[in-house]
Amino acid sequence: MASLLVKNIKSLSLCKLNTQTPLRGKEMSTWNSIPMAYLLVEEGIIKAFGPMADAPSNADEIVDATGKYLLPSFVDSHTHLVFAGSREMEFVERIKGTSYEEIINKGGGILNSAKKLADTSEELLYEQAMTRLQKVMALGTGAIEIKSGYGLSYEAELKILRVIKKIKQNSPIPVKATFLGAHAIPVEYRARRQDYIDLLLNEILPVIAEEELADYIDVFCEAVAFSVDETREIIRAGKAHGLKAKIHTNQFNSMGGIELCIDEEAISVDHLEVMNDAEINKLAKSSVIGTMLPSAPFFLSDPYPKGRKMLDQGVALALASDYNPGSSPSGNMQLVISLACIKSGLLPEEALAAATINGAFALELQDQVGSIDIGKKANFLLTNEIPSIAFLPYSFGENVLDQVYVNGKKI
Ligand code: NIG
Ligand code: FE
Repeated sequence: MASLLVKNIKSLSLCKLNTQTPLRGKEMSTWNSIPMAYLLVEEGIIKAFGPMADAPSNADEIVDATGKYLLPSFVDSHTHLVFAGSREMEFVERIKGTSYEEIINKGGGILNSAKKLADTSEELLYEQAMTRLQKVMALGTGAIEIKSGYGLSYEAELKILRVIKKIKQNSPIPVKATFLGAHAIPVEYRARRQDYIDLLLNEILPVIAEEELADYIDVFCEAVAFSVDETREIIRAGKAHGLKAKIHTNQFNSMGGIELCIDEEAISVDHLEVMNDAEINKLAKSSVIGTMLPSAPFFLSDPYPKGRKMLDQGVALALASDYNPGSSPSGNMQLVISLACIKSGLLPEEALAAATINGAFALELQDQVGSIDIGKKANFLLTNEIPSIAFLPYSFGENVLDQVYVNGKKI
């Protein structure tokens, strides 16, 4: 049996959580860690851990982690990893003063990416997405969600979902797939929105169910995209096909998306740049996870989510990258953690919990990843020799990881 022993770990972080629910409030910063610890992996699974005094003396492979922190890999619970081309010209337009919403209304934005995707083969999409996956894994991502939503037609939505399925089959880290056909209304449907929704629900969704192409359903519930009533119809149709909801809302508007997600028992509501007190209160009392995506407001120069307030009120907060070509062309979870601390007022410990165990709950992968617990996958990170865990978000824009392990193997 192939075994790996990591010894002399300066601190084994986010260990022995054994939690059945996402962390909230004080739990976000008071999680267990063990100073001067060991970790034993067998066949890619966490087998044992504890203080060095109890470490086994032998293993097939031994790694000395003197001076280094060991933490669970990040769980990136919201990405649009499969896309074609790039949109740096819109980035330049925005620098010159055009807003993201104005670009959307002019037929750019998501529709621009959809045009590019329609002209790109399944093979090339797959190759490019796998390259991105390798890159984010090297930066610490150990489980990921990937959305469709740059297809926006029968053929292209199924194409992107089949690419995601192939990534899922070949990825060394767990992947969850989300159907986001309701990402934007294609231009030709602008005068007959319901026809587009009918296409999504009556034609595409049955194929998704038949070919098992998605785990979740998502809608961009915003004034520039889908209304609350439209979102409700789509969520309910998804549910009827066994897909739980993970919804984009409150990026630009408070329009009832939060209440809807609570009523419809969504797994998560994502973005949350714009949240009023009543919405924070309701979200805190619900079991819906609130996912902040701070690299989007960073890239778009928008207000950041009120993370401190949401956490203090008791919202179960997760953090994800939103990796996509329009509002976050980066899947770097270390930067996301820094931004959550710097711009949303989370403590380093809180941001780390949001990016690991709570992200795992946001993908229903809490039995496999998100903490150092016996029986979970040995997807973990070893930092450089750093003075404290706060050094991770503090040294923003840098890669503080010395080694990344996936299924007990160094990558
Ligand atoms: O999460 N907000 C909607 N979707 C993405 C952006 C998509 C794009 O601009 O291509 C997001 O920010
Ligand atoms: Fe997104």
